[in-house]
Amino acid sequence: MAILDGKKAAAELKEEVKIGLAEYYSKGAPKCNLAIIMVGDNPASEVYVRNKAKACEAVGIGGKLVKLSEKTTQKELELFIKAISNDKSVHGVLVQLPLPAHLDETRATELVPTQKDVDGFTAQSLGRLVVGEKGFLSCTPGGIIYLLKKYKIVLSGKHVVIIGRSKIVGKPMALALLNENCTVTVCHSKTRNLAKITKSADIIICAVGKPKFLTSDMVGFGAVVVDVGINRTEEGLVGDVDYEGVNKYASFITPVPGGVGPMTVAYLMKNTFDAYVNQLDGKYE
Ligand code: GUN
Repeated sequence: MAILDGKKAAAELKEEVKIGLAEYYSKGAPKCNLAIIMVGDNPASEVYVRNKAKACEAVGIGGKLVKLSEKTTQKELELFIKAISNDKSVHGVLVQLPLPAHLDETRATELVPTQKDVDGFTAQSLGRLVVGEKGFLSCTPGGIIYLLKKYKIVLSGKHVVIIGRSKIVGKPMALALLNENCTVTVCHSKTRNLAKITKSADIIICAVGKPKFLTSDMVGFGAVVVDVGINRTEEGLVGDVDYEGVNKYASFITPVPGGVGPMTVAYLMKNTFDAYVNQLDGKYE
């Protein structure tokens, strides 16, 4: 069993972004800026946005972290997203999810213009993935594909089983892997005979949000296992995969922490850099 070291691969991807940006800055290009909007004080989101802001600083992106009160109304949030999206000095805009229950996430994220949609959550970005057009791939699926390729894991022709069908991970992951010529099965809470399906997988991507959900009896020998979960339990941070059991069967496995989490952040840096370059429109090249 080998570890898919997300911390190391993420550091490499961030270094590439840092070098790319430095080259633009050396030619007098304006600062690249990412707006990170968070509403309320969800403790997990606090950690994620802090990590995103830290990564921005490390690579040379101006991270504008905006925290809005839990009491923010839909109207106020929408006005805010529109205003920040219209700011020409801001190249990427992301709305940290989940939003408080009284707010409509889809209506909010849909306001991010496609060219600044570095999270890839808008219908336009997801639709581009469907039709195979260039666009922003969501950061967790993007980071996972980057990590698998870094370890030279062949994707074409492989049977990938994704557990979870969220807009953030499962759905864009399935589309992106189809574009890599994988055979994709998406499983979810209503799937029957889950273990039978996961046992037939070459690659399993587990994104269910339940600690140690994927157990060794669900994994075929030699499978590649990617754990998207970050669950805070009494034992500390635990993934969606029962690591101690599953690692005896897997050929490659991501640890938690240090697997998918850092890749998501690094891929956000990559998307923001790409958004910036697109918006410079050939200047400074
Ligand atoms: N919440 C959980 N993952 C993500 C992510 O990748 N982006 C945003 N905006 N919110 C999230």
